[in-house]
Amino acid sequence: MALRLGDSAPNFTQASSQGDINFYEWAGDSWVVLFSHPKDYTPVCTTELGEVARLQPEFDKRKVKTLALSVDDADSHLGWIKDIEETQKVNLSYPILADGDRTVSDLYDMIHPNSLQDLTVRTVFIIDPNKKLRLTLTYPASTGRNFNEILRVIDSLQLTDKYSVATPANWKDGQDCVIVPFIEDPKELKQKFPKGYTQVKTYLRLTPQPNK
Ligand code: BEZ
Repeated sequence: MALRLGDSAPNFTQASSQGDINFYEWAGDSWVVLFSHPKDYTPVCTTELGEVARLQPEFDKRKVKTLALSVDDADSHLGWIKDIEETQKVNLSYPILADGDRTVSDLYDMIHPNSLQDLTVRTVFIIDPNKKLRLTLTYPASTGRNFNEILRVIDSLQLTDKYSVATPANWKDGQDCVIVPFIEDPKELKQKFPKGYTQVKTYLRLTPQPNK
């Protein structure tokens, strides 16, 4: 059965461009973005891996490790990484899983045979430090992902975990957040939201972003 939000992310040991990785050991207590792409030496994938390399400081700031995957082997990944670094002037410091035997692809349901036969489609999994799945996304092979959106979701999830706020449509860092619906006790509201809040409706309460 497909993985669902809140499920435990399956553990695995697999080869990568940086040697064998035991996922749980490698992740430690970090957040993880695990993302698959169809094939090495393909154009859209090339731009995506370069972009994730460019955004590494943003992932680091949020205590997030990035882990790519394709079904090509580690030698192929190493040659391709050289190309990406040369053409995009980046340092690709995160590993790319070499999932030739489909261990990880099968565990995470990354192969959608009616779309791409035996290659992985563009999936993204955000996994929290408790190894729970917090986001799943599937994109078609022909559409490169927006990794700023992935960072935005991580910001939202981390705010929810720490401050009991959710984020509204098209929310951007620094904008008002919404108070999660299950907090109703006035004392708790005062304690959790010292900056106050505006009640638009009983079920829609806006508060300044707590960590700003
Ligand atoms: C690409 O990464 O460019 C790509 C891969 C598979 C199908 C279409 C595009």
